[in-house]
This record gives sequence, structure tokens and C-alpha cells, in this order.
Amino acid sequence: LKFSLRALACALSLTAVAGFAQAEPVVIKFSHVVADSTPKGQGALLFKQLAEERLPGKVKVEVYPNSSLYGDGKEMEALLLGDVHMIAPSLAKFEQYTKKLQVFDLPFLFDNIQAVDRFQQSAEGVALLKSMEDKNITGLAYWHNGMKQLSGNKALREPKDARGQKFRVQASKVLEEQFKALRANPRKMAFAEVYQGLQTGVVNGAENPWSNIYSQKFFEVQKFITETDHGVLDYMLVTNTEFWNGLPADVRSELDKIVVEVTAKVNEQAEALNQGDKQRISEAGTSEVISLTPEQRAQWREAMRPVWGKFEGEIGADLIKAAQAANQ
Ligand code: LMR
Repeated sequence: LKFSLRALACALSLTAVAGFAQAEPVVIKFSHVVADSTPKGQGALLFKQLAEERLPGKVKVEVYPNSSLYGDGKEMEALLLGDVHMIAPSLAKFEQYTKKLQVFDLPFLFDNIQAVDRFQQSAEGVALLKSMEDKNITGLAYWHNGMKQLSGNKALREPKDARGQKFRVQASKVLEEQFKALRANPRKMAFAEVYQGLQTGVVNGAENPWSNIYSQKFFEVQKFITETDHGVLDYMLVTNTEFWNGLPADVRSELDKIVVEVTAKVNEQAEALNQGDKQRISEAGTSEVISLTPEQRAQWREAMRPVWGKFEGEIGADLIKAAQAANQ
């Protein structure tokens, strides 16, 4: 009897351990490089809120903003190693994994964010979400930030004003070529280092949507911001393919639904967030916001447009055409 009681106690405690193990929530680490107040920052927080509300005890989401866990040089590696589970790098930061996404960096390809959205929702755009699965990266959605503006310590009204200036670029060959086309000097730099780079004069200028210029305080260290809308800075929300496919089916299908809902919200709010930040930058009065005449804008377009030809082979002429078609 003594023996069997002990066996029973042992069996019970094993059951308790197994039960406890099952009840442990899946921890999803979401790392990013921008502020909580930006479209991506807001999206990450909403994802956390909805996931924890709708999957109580099953999922816990930890959001690490502002490069606090990994900067943009490391977050993709961390995703592949399984150290983080969701990231949303700008579309400019995928060139090591697929050349196709370079299409989004081509200057003056999209007339506005609505055109970007139409292309992302098209068959070609949706297919790109799956273009890196052989590398264990699954695209879950596109998130908008917005159109990029050119900032500098010199007033940039015409392409010749950029000549010889040093511009910070994301890790993108297309963006390097864009500045070379202006006879300017591109410098690749991690996002977390840009403020200091501008402040110390390592670079003289940069390109970013209003929400990043505002939340990173770039407007405090740039005398001028030209409203060029010359390109787009959007994101792909990505996860580690094996991790996502390994989630319990009920958890995964609920998270898929939440991603759809969060994406709609992010993309609906991004433009307003950017316009609000543009307003706050104007009001701060530390930098002058320059508007271009249609003729000046046409000059920038003409100066940057030769970049397309350099990447047409890698991206594919058909994909560029499909993106252009989204302008109508
Ligand atoms: C940048 O490096 O400028 C951006 O990609 C940062 C971001 O995530 O918006």
C-alpha cells in the first residue's frame, strides 16, 4: 500500500507539472526600432493588447520599442535565431533575403500612400509576403508609415542643392543609388544612431516620414525639411516561419485574425499620425518646412528616376509595372 501511495503521489505531481507546462503562455517577443507613438509602435501595442485580451493565459506579448532589445542591424538575425518572434522592418531592409522588395524603394514610383496600399493589396503585392519562406521568414502583413521627406542643414529646393551633402540611408542599395544620382554621399547608418549622426555632422541630412522625424527629434538637429514625398517608408510585419507554424492551431488562427484587425487600424491611422507630427514640427519652429513647386518636384523626379534602370533586372520589369499600375 505504501508503495502504491507513493506511486500515486508521484503520478499526481507529474500530472500537475504537465498541466502547469501546458498552461504556460506562449511568449511572443516583438522588437522594433521606433517610438511607441508612431504607426508601427502603435501597431505593436495594439497587437499585444488584443492578443492578451483574446487569448488570456495562452499568449503573452512583450514589446520592445526604440531598439531597446535589438537595433535594426540585428533584429532580423534575432528573428531567424528565434530570439524574437515578430519584427516589422522597413521594406528597405530585406535586400539580403529578397531583391523583389527593392521595388518599394524606387524613388517617385508611387504617387501617394493610397497607391502604395493598392499595390500591397494586389496579387503581386500579396505574393511578396511569401517570397522569403525558403529563408524561414513569413510576411504576415504590410504596415504603413508613410511617404518620406528630405531633411538637411541646407535648404534642399532643387536637386543641385543636395550635391556633395552626406545623407544617412537605411541598409538599401537602391537608396544609396538614389543619393548618388544627386551626386550626394550616402552613408548607411542604423536608425538608433541617426540623431547623433545628424547632431555631430557625420551626416548632413536624411530621409524619413514625419512620424520618425518628430519622434526621434530629428527636427531639432535639421534646419530644413523639404516636403518631397519622393518615396515610401512602409513595413513588412514578419515572423519566423517555423515558430508561427508551430503554434497551437487555435492560437495561430486567432493571432492571424488579430493581425488583420491590427493592420487595418495601423493603415487607417498612419496618415493622420504623420500629418499631426508634421504640424507639431512646424509649430516647434526649429526647422523650416519647405514646400516644392510642381516644377521643382519634377526636377527631383528627373534626377532620381535613372535609379530604376539599375535595379530593373533584380526586381523584374513586370513587378515595377504592376507597382506603377497602382497609381491609377
Ligand atoms: C529607418 O531606419 O529610417 C526606418 O526604417 C526606421 C523605421 O523602422 O521606421
